[in-house]
Amino acid sequence: MKYFIKTFGCQMNDNDSNSISALLYQAGYSASTVVEEADIIIVNTCCVRESAENRAFGYIGSLKSLKEQKPALIIAICGCMAQKNGVAADLLRRYQHVGLILGTFAIPRLPKHLSTYRDRVGVIVDVEEVFSEPAHTPLPPPGKTAAFKAQINIIYGCDNYCTYCIVPYVRGREHSRQPQHIMEQVQALIKTGVKEIQLLGQNVNAYGKDFSDKEWNFARLLRELDALDGIERIRYMTSHPRDFNAELIETIASAKHICHHFHLPLQSGCDKILAAMNRGYDTEYYASLLKNIRSLMPNSTITSDLIVGFPGETDEDFQQTLDFIARIRLDAAYTFIYSQRSGTLAASLPSQVQPQLKKERLQSLTAIQNPISLNINEDLIGKTQKILVEGASKNNPACWYGRTDGHKIAVFIYDEQAGLKPGDITQVRIVAAQTWNLSGELL
Ligand code: SAH
Ligand code: SF4
Ligand code: F3S
Repeated sequence: MKYFIKTFGCQMNDNDSNSISALLYQAGYSASTVVEEADIIIVNTCCVRESAENRAFGYIGSLKSLKEQKPALIIAICGCMAQKNGVAADLLRRYQHVGLILGTFAIPRLPKHLSTYRDRVGVIVDVEEVFSEPAHTPLPPPGKTAAFKAQINIIYGCDNYCTYCIVPYVRGREHSRQPQHIMEQVQALIKTGVKEIQLLGQNVNAYGKDFSDKEWNFARLLRELDALDGIERIRYMTSHPRDFNAELIETIASAKHICHHFHLPLQSGCDKILAAMNRGYDTEYYASLLKNIRSLMPNSTITSDLIVGFPGETDEDFQQTLDFIARIRLDAAYTFIYSQRSGTLAASLPSQVQPQLKKERLQSLTAIQNPISLNINEDLIGKTQKILVEGASKNNPACWYGRTDGHKIAVFIYDEQAGLKPGDITQVRIVAAQTWNLSGELL
């Protein structure tokens, strides 16, 4: 029996797909990279924006013909969309070819559900909100080879309730993993040759807040991981600006292996909108956070997420975001059009912004940010950057690429003499810059 997993959404879902893969492998299934060959198809869905949901619905619809050709095919819908209130009923109504609907809490129960499903006829729905930690395997998930980088969850769920966001409703409350489990998993990964660890959570800075003793926090976890033999790079995603305290900044500044890449989602550069979003900080706080980071670590890379068209955002409010973005000079920003998510507080606000205006604001925002990104990258020309080699470039077979400490892609001409392989650390001199990429030459 072969399984195929299609993953939408963020690193949480990637990580869940790895857990699903490990569970199925242990249950005797084998991984397939060709959807037509699979006996079980898992669709791991995202619902953070309407566009993500539409992509998942479209993909699920496209599986109907496969099911008609192969009646024994099992199709399971997992992930955040499956967990969202009312979606399971919607899926049942629209797609008769779906066999299982399993929410984000149901992953550990997947093998049990699959065997039950195979014993009888009828759809299985499990969207119960009972948290138990998914199984973790120190080994790369079956079918995956990129063993020099690994992502591990340190905290599940989110307690923040930003008013636009569906995540707290589909991922539940914050649950930190036991530090011993994290340390053991990282040590096992290093033994298999992993050089870079990315710690995952919707808000990694909240790590340990749900423990009854307060001996562990995110800064301590970072310090302990930094001290492990054999670790080259530590990253984390995502950290909430509100919780990025002085201890954390000092920990990162004095550590050896923690990347100086700060992804700090700002969301808006207007204080009125930030308050309506329930973000818990204002622009002055955010600007001074960047100042503190940059004064201790001048070569930091700082990136962010921004939403345009939050309900009630006027032209003046949006102009404040443009001005603030011009002032703080981020390396890059992921920009999103506000998407109304039913069940969230912002979805019921009366003053929703018109779709056309939201599109125009997105364009105005990228028109300000992109030249800043290019400009910052151009400042790197002539400088040396340490990169972790990832492999061959997808666009140009003569080139390979790696990532800088700031997570920027640096493309370089592959030189057989250099004998480089994925996972090696090397130096490149930057010779050209684009908005999203750097070009370098091997030293
Ligand atoms: N926990 C992380 C990431 C959450 S989702 C954080 O707080 O930073 C990733 C990004 O999606 C968010 O930072 C936000 O910019 C965007 N996002 C979330 N909900 C959205 C919505 N309803 N419409 C548009 N963008 C949204
Ligand atoms: Fe959503 Fe806010 Fe939680 Fe991030 S911190 S997942 S944006 S509620
Ligand atoms: Fe999407 Fe769920 Fe991640 S909604 S962004 S896959 S936490």
